[in-house]
Amino acid sequence: VQAEGAVYFLFGATGDLARRKLFPALFSLYKEGKLSENFAVIGLARRPRTNEQFRNDLYQSISEFCRYKVDDEQLFQSFSKHFEYMSLDINNLDGFKELNRLAESLESRFDITGNRLFYLALAPSLFGSVSLNLRDGGLLHTDGWHRLVIEKPFGYDLQSAQALNEQLNEVFKEEEIYRIDHYLGKEMVQNIQVIRFANALFEPLWNKDHIANVQITLSETVGVEDRGGYYDKSGALRDMGQNHMLQMLTMIAMEPPSRLHGEAIRDEKVKVLRSLRSYENSEEVRKHVTRGQYTAGQVEQTSLPGYREEPSVNPDSITETYFAAKVFVDNFRWAGVPFYIRTGKRMPVKTTEVVVEFKSMPQNVLFAKKQDLAPNLLVIRVNPIEGIYIKVNAKTPGSDSAIQPVAMEFCQSCQIGLNTPEAYERLIYDAARGDATYFTRWDEVAQAWKFVDRIASAWQESSHDLMHYPAGSWGPERAEQLLKDDGFHWWPVN
Ligand code: BG6
Repeated sequence: VQAEGAVYFLFGATGDLARRKLFPALFSLYKEGKLSENFAVIGLARRPRTNEQFRNDLYQSISEFCRYKVDDEQLFQSFSKHFEYMSLDINNLDGFKELNRLAESLESRFDITGNRLFYLALAPSLFGSVSLNLRDGGLLHTDGWHRLVIEKPFGYDLQSAQALNEQLNEVFKEEEIYRIDHYLGKEMVQNIQVIRFANALFEPLWNKDHIANVQITLSETVGVEDRGGYYDKSGALRDMGQNHMLQMLTMIAMEPPSRLHGEAIRDEKVKVLRSLRSYENSEEVRKHVTRGQYTAGQVEQTSLPGYREEPSVNPDSITETYFAAKVFVDNFRWAGVPFYIRTGKRMPVKTTEVVVEFKSMPQNVLFAKKQDLAPNLLVIRVNPIEGIYIKVNAKTPGSDSAIQPVAMEFCQSCQIGLNTPEAYERLIYDAARGDATYFTRWDEVAQAWKFVDRIASAWQESSHDLMHYPAGSWGPERAEQLLKDDGFHWWPVN
């Protein structure tokens, strides 16, 4: 299905996100025929740039980052003629009026009926004033739809998120706001619903009676790169926990929605967030949540600096670059089942995986004492490998009674010729079609902050529980203990 014709206003068009993700995503959509010819993109940023320079940037970005090669010059030409650049001071209302005139001229050139999508790849502190200027500059006075797409972080805590939301609501209705969590655009995260609700093998077992625990790992090998300034104020809990980790958890834990419809799905997700057990006090937080910060380390003979030595990071920083938490979803389905979640920078591998560990078979006369049977696992691999595997027990060939765990695997990303769409392609396409399923609704954001704020405020009281781990390791030892206390362990990721 082709997205309806629209003008895309891309704020932050000279930034990293545009270059690495947004331009390539638009090109892939165009190449696949998902954008009609009735579209225009206006790149906006402060610095001056000619249209020619802008289209050059576009070319560079696509050649470097797009999953499709720009081997067809003509295709690129016809794509890039939809792009214009305008230098804009976002505090200057007159600039917005001029922008409106430019948009109108593109609407008549490309036969667009007034649909406008505003993508703010900007610092969130600017969202409010840009929205007001969009309204006051007359940009919302067209007949078509108006949608605002914004990037995280959505606030720093519940209070600031609320303030930000109020600002946006002065101009946009909730259903016009598309809050990106790019993890929700990932194929395998979306696949969780299908794996769960389309398989008789899993759904009947998907509860406290059959599942021992769930483990969600989101590990990265990178450090803070050049984002020290932002990251040092944020930390792993706000940067990854409040959004990506909790969102994946909701996909695993939610009840089947009444229909596969955006609001129905988001209703179920928010119920999970409301059911998260909130840690009663700081002691509870320390018991259930471990935080760490990386120190200098060696990875494949390369020496890596510690977090405190990174550019723009406070040399006495107590910001966490890792956290692991034991979380409970206090509802009927999940009573007593721990969800262990962990994420960190400078880990040994880059991976995102969900492991569902099933309860063990009862010790019985057939196999008792001979050996401990390994539990069955369902592993959902989100990235870089996309696929699932199931660990089952089977007879060791050639032996009389030895049993070994074997894997039954489906690797989506290994299929030759398969070129999975990137998260941003999916999300831009969805926003352009008005499908908000994989965007976070305000009540989800608020609930997630409520949960995270409790941890953050306990951490603020004292930093003596902040552990250190060498770059290239799996984080603080204490995170192992979190599971050991319950008789479990982290399953190694692949
Ligand atoms: C972003 C975080 O949201 O997600 C980054 O701000 C992190 O710190 C990134 O590196 C990870 O995304 P992905 O898709 O590379 O796993």
